[in-house]
Amino acid sequence: MDINIKSLESPDEMIKVEEIQRQVWEGSETEVVPAHMLIAAVQHGGILLGAFVDDISQEKCVGFVFGFPGMYFTPDGPRPMHCSHMLAVLPEYRDLGLGFRLKRAQWQMVRHQGLDRIVWTYDPLMSRNAFLNITKLGAVCNTYLRNIYGEMRDEINKGLMSDRFQVDWWVNTNRVNHRLSRRARRPLGLNHFLDAGIQIINPSCNNPQGFPCPTQVLSTIIDHIKNVTDTTNAQPPAMLLVEVPSDFSLLKKADLQLAIEWREVTRQIFEALFKADYLVTDFVQSSSSNSRSYYVLSYGLSTL
Ligand SMILES: CC(C)(COP(=O)(O)OP(=O)(O)OC[C@H]1O[C@@H](n2cnc3c(N)ncnc32)[C@H](O)[C@@H]1OP(=O)(O)O)[C@@H](O)C(=O)NCCC(=O)NCCS
Repeated sequence: MDINIKSLESPDEMIKVEEIQRQVWEGSETEVVPAHMLIAAVQHGGILLGAFVDDISQEKCVGFVFGFPGMYFTPDGPRPMHCSHMLAVLPEYRDLGLGFRLKRAQWQMVRHQGLDRIVWTYDPLMSRNAFLNITKLGAVCNTYLRNIYGEMRDEINKGLMSDRFQVDWWVNTNRVNHRLSRRARRPLGLNHFLDAGIQIINPSCNNPQGFPCPTQVLSTIIDHIKNVTDTTNAQPPAMLLVEVPSDFSLLKKADLQLAIEWREVTRQIFEALFKADYLVTDFVQSSSSNSRSYYVLSYGLSTL
């Protein structure tokens, strides 16, 4: 499929972006960022890019990425960065690489603005987003935000606390350059990590409906890691694997209570591991038919 990525600037194009938001985050008009806000942002350093495909000999906008300039604070004072606020692709055009292409174009434009950091948030239980953000784009994360947007009203988010990973995309690093290059390495699989002796700290088992149930067992391991770092000079494990559901949207639709349990258990795990100096560096899947998804966390790396 021919995909064109273009900057969007005109009011008509902004209205199309409003419409995509309505289709992707159905059910709540108040969650839509309106055209006038998009225009104000792009006139002052914001970036809005659309993904176009041919549809009956006409170009159709089927996805977009939107962000605006912001600040972060360092011991040497405030520094500028890009805050990527929304990325969306219409459901029927997903898994074709459009999300990746939009983020790649955003990366180019932000570098052109002279910035070195892009941040955004996503639900850590959404494994498609995790695979795109962490594995394909090379973003990293050590910040867990509890219920950051409060109670959201759209169909994707309603019923659950809006906990998010805030990821850092250090756009000039070798890690990111390499993952975006045309000769990027093939993503690693679960076996690469298991063969290297890396432990899954919360292996799940399926309930009778075939959905994975979160396990609590790992609180002992997390306590152990805390003790190691607090009271001794011994090194905690260099890497750990944390399991999350492979299809959280399906699980949530089938069993909201189970989705809430996953939210609560993984919140505890990630908060404890980030506090203990772990950083999310990869996201892998098992290749078996009983597909499982895992974050890879590495000890003691800075966000770079
Ligand atoms: C997140 C989103 C923008 C991704 O767009 P997309 O065009 O499907 O993304 P891509 O095709 O570039 O990448 C998705 C990757 O995830 C993989 N994937 C699909 N389902 C997956 C799953 N359940 N677990 C892990 N990976 C999965 C795809 O195979 C693809 O990888 P590949 O290119 O190596 O095959 C799209 O799913 C979306 O609009 N979601 C709803 C809105 C949203 O969550 N936005 C982001 C937060 S603001």
